[in-house]
Amino acid sequence: MSTLTQSPAWLALDMHQAEMASRSLRTLFSEDPQRFSKFSLQFGDLLLDYSKQPVDETTIQLLLALAEQQKLADWLARMANGEKINFTENRSALHIALRANSPVFTDGVDVTQEVRRVLQQIEHFTEKIHGGMHRGYTGLPITDVVNIGIGGSDLGPVMVTEALRPCHVPQLRVHFVSNIDGAHLSGTLQQLNPATTLFIIASKTFTTQETLTNAHSARKWFLANGGSEQAIAAHFVAVSTNREAVSQFGINPDNMFEFWDWVGGRYSLWSAIGLPIALAVGMENFRSLLAGAQAMDHHFLTAPFEQNLPVMLGLIGIWQINFFHITSQAILPYDQSLHRLPAYLQQLEMESNGKRVNRNGETVDYSTGAVIWGESGTNGQHAFYQLLHQGTQKFTADFLAPCQCQHPLTEHHPMLLANFFAQTEALMRGKTAQEVRTELLNQHLPASEVERLLPHRVFPGNHATTSILFKKLDPATLGKLIALYEHKVFVQGIIWEINSFDQWGVELGKQLAGTILSELISDYPRAQHDASTRGLIDFYRAQQ
Ligand code: F6P
Repeated sequence: MSTLTQSPAWLALDMHQAEMASRSLRTLFSEDPQRFSKFSLQFGDLLLDYSKQPVDETTIQLLLALAEQQKLADWLARMANGEKINFTENRSALHIALRANSPVFTDGVDVTQEVRRVLQQIEHFTEKIHGGMHRGYTGLPITDVVNIGIGGSDLGPVMVTEALRPCHVPQLRVHFVSNIDGAHLSGTLQQLNPATTLFIIASKTFTTQETLTNAHSARKWFLANGGSEQAIAAHFVAVSTNREAVSQFGINPDNMFEFWDWVGGRYSLWSAIGLPIALAVGMENFRSLLAGAQAMDHHFLTAPFEQNLPVMLGLIGIWQINFFHITSQAILPYDQSLHRLPAYLQQLEMESNGKRVNRNGETVDYSTGAVIWGESGTNGQHAFYQLLHQGTQKFTADFLAPCQCQHPLTEHHPMLLANFFAQTEALMRGKTAQEVRTELLNQHLPASEVERLLPHRVFPGNHATTSILFKKLDPATLGKLIALYEHKVFVQGIIWEINSFDQWGVELGKQLAGTILSELISDYPRAQHDASTRGLIDFYRAQQ
């Protein structure tokens, strides 16, 4: 048994869970009409409502005691002070410096000076592209940008670029290619003219197989379709921490946008990795995104924990995952423009906290996260909500929506939000056998038919959800929202005593893929494999 699960704060929550589990959410609401005001928080125009979670005042006090026991405040200060909290890679985790408005130090150096330099570089480049000063090899302005990157060098920029579609500049289309599956790149290139296309090769390490393979194929396409070696400079730029590898690839380091090892890949959209965002929406909007995140950072670092949105969101997650043993967390944005948010949060949460040993390298005996998945509403309602309402799986869900829409079909918006509110209410309340009976009898069905149908029409309810509402999905609000989740992940990692900032778990598959690739494209070497993997390799080869 670990010291965490035997600690006073943990044991107190364990005891309290039994009591809370015996009280349904319906009961909690009927007992206390003030639940919404007690268990919701507002930061600017962003509302976090966790009153549909199985909490009462004691729960909150006990969760805050756990945060105190785990020294959350100290760890927050250590992160903000640039300590090397990513201790397996000996790095700080300073994404807050990317949007800071005052100095942030690591190793005695104020990193915000470099941050400002690169932001200016992004600004100049964006202005040159938008203003038609940066032109392609035939003299035509750039009309299309292709970001080639994967994981953190793709998911954040894609999610934000999609979310901010109403802010897009009209003269530029931004595309994203991530998958090693050639269909992704070739499908994108089919629509493009090399003379007016700019490629951004985005890779923190500049060693990632998918990105480098796609980048080489993009260069071949460029050269085979009218481009020349001399023209590469105008059509290929790199975003990386690895200057040497960028120059080995053939991109002049003058065309490189730098970031630093203290920026984790999944926390990097605020750095030069955000170049495609700036190109899509303009620098002013990119700076508003940063300002929104900075406002959330300030709130996180200064607000008392009971009023602190990231802290409370993190602690509610701990309550669900560790005490109600929830393993499934749905992300349900009622906003089509946030359709990539679930994928983005999958990496943010699952790559950060998908760890099984604590800071001392000991195997933990508690869960460190849920499986994150989701889909935008209302599409999900017609796909998987049946399981949520009447299936046997336990889950929790975050529902998110803007109060104002940014498209011209304004009459759709109340319908969208009505569905959001109805779903969270239905999941919480359910429908009892008595309610179903009354409903069916009112339809004048015979009593025997009522009893036959009844079990199929009952909704157990008591499903906990968290709701996040905001006025409008503008760049600043989106910045706040993303930083909210970044810090929630940090809070949970501290409670769980794990390193949220490394990702060794992605290495084994990469290593094995390297060995297997040589077996797929040549006869030798034939490495040792289990019978299944051998069978799959041989079947593949027989089909070539
Ligand atoms: O999936 C593993 C990972 O290392 C992620 O952490 C990272 O975001 C992604 O690969 C891409 O890495 P890079 O930016 O170095 O190409």
